[in-house]
Amino acid sequence: MCEDPEGFTLWFTGLPCSGKSAVGDRVAEILREKGRRVERLDGDAVRKDLTRDLGFSKKDRDENIRRVTFVAKLLSRNGVAVLTSFISPYREMRDRARRECVNFVEVYAKCPVEVCIGRDVKGMYQKALRGEIKEFTGVSDPYEEPLNAEIVLETDKETVEESAEKVLRRLGELGLA
Ligand code: ADX
Repeated sequence: MCEDPEGFTLWFTGLPCSGKSAVGDRVAEILREKGRRVERLDGDAVRKDLTRDLGFSKKDRDENIRRVTFVAKLLSRNGVAVLTSFISPYREMRDRARRECVNFVEVYAKCPVEVCIGRDVKGMYQKALRGEIKEFTGVSDPYEEPLNAEIVLETDKETVEESAEKVLRRLGELGLA
C-alpha cells in the first residue's frame, strides 16, 4: 500500500482585497497539477453555506473561524492539502487553528490598507468609508497582524504568480510539497 502525502493547512489571512483568495486559488491549482488532493475553504463561499447564519461581530467572526478550523482539522489529518482564505482578524483564533490543525502554515497577505482600498473589488471599502457598512475590517473594525507567520506575502509588490511561487517554495522547505 502506498503512503499518502502528509496533509497540511495553509491559512491565508489579511485585509479584504489583500489577495488571499487570488494567491490561494493559484497555489491550489498548482498543487492539483502535482496530483495533490486539495480543498479550498474561502470566506465568500463558506459564508454562503456552512456559516451563512453569521455576521461580522467579533462573536460571529470567531464562530466562523471556529467552524472552518474544525473542517480544516478533519481534512488535514487525512492527507488533504487545505487552503483557507479568511480575513481571520483575531490572533487568538488563528493561534487556536494552529493548535488544532495538522501542519499549520500561516500565510499573511500583507498589503497597506490604502492599496486594498484602491483595489476595492466589490466596492465594499467605499461603502464602509461612507458608513453604509458597519464593522468593516480595515475601516471600522480591527485587524491584528500576524506576529510569526511562516510566510509573509507583500501583495502590493509581488504578482500573484510570484506570491504563489513564494508559498510553494516555503512548502517545499517545510517538506510538505
Ligand atoms: S472573517 O472576519 O470572519 O474572517 P471572512 O473572510 O469570512 O471574514 O469574510 C469576509 C468577506 O465578507 C469579505 O470579503 C467581504 O466580501 C464580506 N464582508 C461583508 N461585510 C463585511 C465586514 N463588515 N467586514 C469584512 N468583510 C465583510
